Amino acid sequence: MRSTHFLAALAMALGSAACVGSLDPMPPGDDDGDDDPEPTESLGQAMFTTDVAPMLTTACAACHTGPIDGIPLKFLGNGGATGYYAAVIAEPSVTGGFEPGLANLLNKGEHDGGNARAWTQGEKDIIIEWLLTEAEERGVVPVDPPPTGTTTPTTSREALAQWSSCMSIDDWSSSLVYQWADKGSDRGQCMSCHNQGAGGFYASDDQNQMFEMNRYELYITTFFTATPINIADPTAGYKVVVNEAKLRAKANTVGHPAYNPDGNQMGYLNDFYELTEARRLAGTCATGGFPTVPPAQ
Ligand code: HEC
Ligand code: HEC
Repeated sequence: MRSTHFLAALAMALGSAACVGSLDPMPPGDDDGDDDPEPTESLGQAMFTTDVAPMLTTACAACHTGPIDGIPLKFLGNGGATGYYAAVIAEPSVTGGFEPGLANLLNKGEHDGGNARAWTQGEKDIIIEWLLTEAEERGVVPVDPPPTGTTTPTTSREALAQWSSCMSIDDWSSSLVYQWADKGSDRGQCMSCHNQGAGGFYASDDQNQMFEMNRYELYITTFFTATPINIADPTAGYKVVVNEAKLRAKANTVGHPAYNPDGNQMGYLNDFYELTEARRLAGTCATGGFPTVPPAQ
């Protein structure tokens, strides 16, 4: 039950950008020719506004509002309480892709030397109910574990699920790909901001933890993405490639620390890719697709 929901919720994380867009008010004079009704507030958004937002104002806003590139993570955004919803929905590590087991909003616990308190059980129940409502409303669906062996995946999600199974901690260690964690930027090492998954990039000092988290559908797309084997013919199936496009784009994005995408780490990532692809082609991958049990918090 839980694992099905878990996968479903993660599916959503990948589709959330589109859903968020549909909640935005339409600009006046929407003449794109479609017959979409004007968007209305979803049940999830209403629950958030009524039940969750006041809790955030009281317990969290003092430290977590501001421009998104500030520290600590400004997951409540810059737009006052009415802006919380859009900001929270946009931060995958905070919602956990609407899987309570992965949602840092729910699981963070007491921190900042006791200045930030843990949620009471009653408050947790409210947040869980909200997350599950969002997952339900967003129609998230699980991805079936891919077939074993070297079968060609038929969808991009299946390709990434297969890839997740093929990832090995031995290759992770020997390729040195984990060194993305201490890669430098003009505002500190990646892990100084990404050690709890900010932005959907999980970069931790703990090699094993970083490996495990990067196998989740929520986090795997920082390093990998799936693409049709033949652009002209999607029925030919999908393959995984290194997500260099994302890593290069982020290196120069305004509002994000700048870094050199051509350091050693890109080479390590490509090495890890080759080792994983070799496992896939040899048919020696583990089974089961993405991890299904939320990690210990
Ligand atoms: C007094 C200031 C303060 C308050 C209040 C506060 N936090 Fe934090 N929070 C921090 C600091 C500092 C960090 C960074 C260090 C850490 O991760 O423990 C942080 C980190 C976090 C993170 C991890 C962000 C990341 O880097 O990925 C989450 C999630 C979080 N807080 C949630 C909450 C929630 C939920 C509340 C309300 C119940 C809350 N915080 C209240 C100061 C605060
Ligand atoms: C000062 C904090 C900070 C540092 C240091 C930092 N980042 Fe980020 N990064 C963020 C925040 C906040 C986000 C989410 C908001 C955003 O996308 O700008 C993010 C988002 C990302 C994303 C997700 C982009 C997406 O659209 O999915 C990637 C990839 C990324 N960072 C890579 C890196 C790399 C690589 C480094 C180290 C070389 C690094 N970051 C260093 C704060 C930081």
